[in-house]
Amino acid sequence: MTTEFTSHHLTEAVVDSIEATADPRLRELLAALTRHLHAFARESRLTQQEWERAIGFLTATGQTCTDTRQEFVLLSDVLGVSMLVETINSDGRAGATESTVLGPFHMTESPVRELGANIDLVGGGEPCVVSGRVLSRNGTPLPGTVVDVWQANDQGFYDVQQPEVQPPGNGRGLFTADAEGRFWFRTCVPSPYPIPTDGPVGDLLRATARHPYRPAHIHFIASAVGHTPVTTHIFVAGSDHLDSDAVFAVKPSLVQDFTTTDDPSLAREFGIPNPFRHARFDLVLNPA
Ligand code: BEZ
Ligand code: FE
Repeated sequence: MTTEFTSHHLTEAVVDSIEATADPRLRELLAALTRHLHAFARESRLTQQEWERAIGFLTATGQTCTDTRQEFVLLSDVLGVSMLVETINSDGRAGATESTVLGPFHMTESPVRELGANIDLVGGGEPCVVSGRVLSRNGTPLPGTVVDVWQANDQGFYDVQQPEVQPPGNGRGLFTADAEGRFWFRTCVPSPYPIPTDGPVGDLLRATARHPYRPAHIHFIASAVGHTPVTTHIFVAGSDHLDSDAVFAVKPSLVQDFTTTDDPSLAREFGIPNPFRHARFDLVLNPA
């Protein structure tokens, strides 16, 4: 007896074909991917032409990637997948600093800097100080925590995007929290900026009438012994695009005031002209 060929048989044939995959998790992921991808094609009655166009888009995305350009990360970001995976995997224990996306610009090592150093090597932006403590969830300070920081300049570009304008390491620093878990550094107040739009992801944003902007932010990764590292940002309170981040990464707890502070002795301590903008932000880590 011949069996009628249906699209569902095809799906199950593909799933059966990976039955012998030795790694059980790989088998589970590939089976789920096959079923969802096939269901997407069935439900949307995908045409040959549309699939060819999709493959052309993915090909162009791959061809746009270089050592300093990660178009696939960008695609994952604008489709909300990066934030979805991040949300599924954040352990959500109350009291710890919330995490958010890594983004595509953490691709070079941040230079090791002394506490208090200025990561704005070029100047021109509004000077500010960022300070805080790294704490375990029970409030115990975490001395020696490595705090990796990176941000775009006041024009909204990362060093790797402007190798002719910015020295390598501009806007980046690798700090070590002091004996009381404190960290502090100088920088400029970041600006909102558009994610790169000169590649396939930009085409996608234009085709869907979406803007490319991210609200002003500074990135952090804090890593302490015996604790789960956190990858996060602080967002500048009042920044444009806080409610429409192109990569869906804003969490209200991460929005921080960069207050104008008129305190000559504190300004002297930080080595910054008075008055100055000051963001205070504690990084609270979960025990591993
Ligand atoms: C960033 O904040 O560096 C970033 C995140 C996602 C996409 C593009 C840029
Ligand atoms: Fe960024």
